[in-house]
Amino acid sequence: MPDLSVFGPDIIAKAANLIARYPESRSALLPMLHLVQSVEGHVSQAGVQFCADQLALSTAEVTAVVTFYTMYKRKPCGEHLISVCTNTLCAVLGGDAIYQTLQEHLGQDGRPLKHEDTAGTPGEAGSITLEHAECLAACDLGPVLQVNYEFYDNQTPDSAVALVDALRRGERPVPTRGAPLTSLRDVSLQLAGFFPEDEATYRSEVDGPSAAVETVRGAQLAADRGWTAPTMPDKPPALPEVEKK
Ligand code: FES
Repeated sequence: MPDLSVFGPDIIAKAANLIARYPESRSALLPMLHLVQSVEGHVSQAGVQFCADQLALSTAEVTAVVTFYTMYKRKPCGEHLISVCTNTLCAVLGGDAIYQTLQEHLGQDGRPLKHEDTAGTPGEAGSITLEHAECLAACDLGPVLQVNYEFYDNQTPDSAVALVDALRRGERPVPTRGAPLTSLRDVSLQLAGFFPEDEATYRSEVDGPSAAVETVRGAQLAADRGWTAPTMPDKPPALPEVEKK
């Protein structure tokens, strides 16, 4: 039985708060996993046991969910998690080159960092975990990367190295959009549904454009040229007859 003492009264109270938000306790599993990740920087076996105990699930059921979603990390992570999009569009625009550059820049003794490896001691200030990611839903602004799930758009290998070096010096470069940069543990707490004490101030910093010029370029072109979408038919067109054999 793993040692659950790392989950103190404050975390138990937060778990109860989460469970109370749902009609069935098991529905709280996803935010609960973010909660335990905010404590240890990953979902350990103790974290799995804690969730199972709180939600009356088996550890097998919890583990099945943890291993399905890539946002739950099974080994200790750095203060910051860098996710480089290497899906098709970002890859051809430079995402592969950015990932390879960071692998080498963060590697040690000539060995490049591998997916989900950490440069530095996990959990300590300035430590960085690197991963390649599937499409981050910002193809119009690619190549993109995220630090603790905050976006840095239109990156190059040089800008990504500069960003990483700033993080290692303890700086918190401002993301291109969205919320201010925190740490992986802090953002895990937010993903669980708990925001900083001074939420009003926090929210005023969060506001940002939801669509960039690139995002609406197609819609703008259509508006400028007077293009409109064809009217939707009342009924779907009839399917062609299929000859029966
Ligand atoms: S391919 Fe990178 S954000 Fe979509």
